[in-house]
Amino acid sequence: MVENILVVGSLGQVGQELVESLKADFGADRVIASDVRKPENFEGKFEVLDVMDKEALLSVVKKHGITQIYNLAALLSATAEKNPVLGWNLTIDGQFNVLNLAKEGHINKIFWPSSIAVFGPTTPRFDTPQKTIIEPNTVYGIGKLAGEMWNQYYHQKYGVDVRGVRYPGLIGWKSMPGGGTTDYAVDIFYSALRGEKYNCFLSETTALPMMHMEDAIRATRTIMEKPAEQVKLRTSYNISAMSFTPEEIAAEIKKHIPTFEIEYHPDFRQQIANSWPASINDAEARDHWGWKEKYDLKGLVSNMIENLKDRVK
Ligand code: SER
Repeated sequence: MVENILVVGSLGQVGQELVESLKADFGADRVIASDVRKPENFEGKFEVLDVMDKEALLSVVKKHGITQIYNLAALLSATAEKNPVLGWNLTIDGQFNVLNLAKEGHINKIFWPSSIAVFGPTTPRFDTPQKTIIEPNTVYGIGKLAGEMWNQYYHQKYGVDVRGVRYPGLIGWKSMPGGGTTDYAVDIFYSALRGEKYNCFLSETTALPMMHMEDAIRATRTIMEKPAEQVKLRTSYNISAMSFTPEEIAAEIKKHIPTFEIEYHPDFRQQIANSWPASINDAEARDHWGWKEKYDLKGLVSNMIENLKDRVK
């Protein structure tokens, strides 16, 4: 069957890379990027779209004969704390619209990104299992947990084919994050390559789960391509690659750039980071659909510096 794919939130950190990856395999004509604003120089099909507007979403779906939606629209953890109502509405109203399109038979497959933010301060912090205490205390985490439950509900009640992974902090050189608690692990490279001291908004010992964007895109594409019966969990899968603290990534960067310096001035994002796991157990993703990461911390740092060194001025 011919697939026409809509990526909602395509200008975000994941969206930009995902659109390119999908275009490479499905063809530029079959991938429709969308976001709430139109970028200046966009090559390919693009729709200005607010996912909270069901009529507008339906009309884009009909216009392009959309069969699959990747719904990436969200306010990340730090931004959502400052705008809880929009954070919640965007996550939940948007996903309801997408789920209902599938229930009504307009589309046949959905990808929805969850996050390590579903976990909270009462969750076991190390090697956090798939199924454990899940009591998030951030706006972003509450929305993602509710979304996971609705996805599972629509799958069980209406047979909706919705799939998801809980992304850790994502680090790539093709796109920038915005508004997240793990963003420091991208920003740090720009300071290091510019020869500037980096002012880190988390403390030196704050360990968080992280992943190279290339691995995250591969996880996303893999879970969407597997036969439905292999995707046994319809909430969202834990996926893990590495875990490090700001001082550990700084030490790894210093191996490439010995003059690099870092200072630590934790702000409100420290509280968010403190509520999240330090490391993730992803046995189910490995077992059910063959997840395996490519990058560890050493590989990630070499790859980021290699790719950014001529781009960052
Ligand atoms: N990177 C995200 C954030 O920091 C976590 O999902 O908000």
